[in-house]
Amino acid sequence: MGIFWKKLKLTQSNLNAIEACGGEIMKISELIQESDWKSEKHVPVVECPDSVKADKFFEVTVAIGKEVAHPNTTAHHICWISLYFLPEGEKFPCQIGKFAFNSHGASVKGPDTSTVYTHHKVTAWMKTSKPGTIIAVSLCNIHGLWQYSKQIKVD
Ligand SMILES: [Fe+2]
Repeated sequence: MGIFWKKLKLTQSNLNAIEACGGEIMKISELIQESDWKSEKHVPVVECPDSVKADKFFEVTVAIGKEVAHPNTTAHHICWISLYFLPEGEKFPCQIGKFAFNSHGASVKGPDTSTVYTHHKVTAWMKTSKPGTIIAVSLCNIHGLWQYSKQIKVD
């Protein structure tokens, strides 16, 4: 499961909510799925160099359905990808960006009538002076949350 979002700070509001639902604690990390991207169409695969130069910008591409295409229709689509970087030895990830995919064929005429679709692939640029882990999390409107991570070294 995910390497972050494992801790849930309990406030009085949290405790009230837990009591209201019969004592069960639901953590977001329990909802994030991982799988082999070669056979699972939901995995947000991160592509970037294995090793980068310190403080030099590099390209990070995240694509869903790299091997097995994911549908992109009004009824079934990828809503967003959020990209994080966890520098080695640090406790909290930095959010590199969040990318929303907002067009899935809907128009005033109904579902899949507009001919406009946002493709679920993004490219961001980032730099770091520390090695660490790039983490991508995505949401399918039907099949939930998915993640992928990739470690990078710094020369
Ligand atoms: Fe899906």
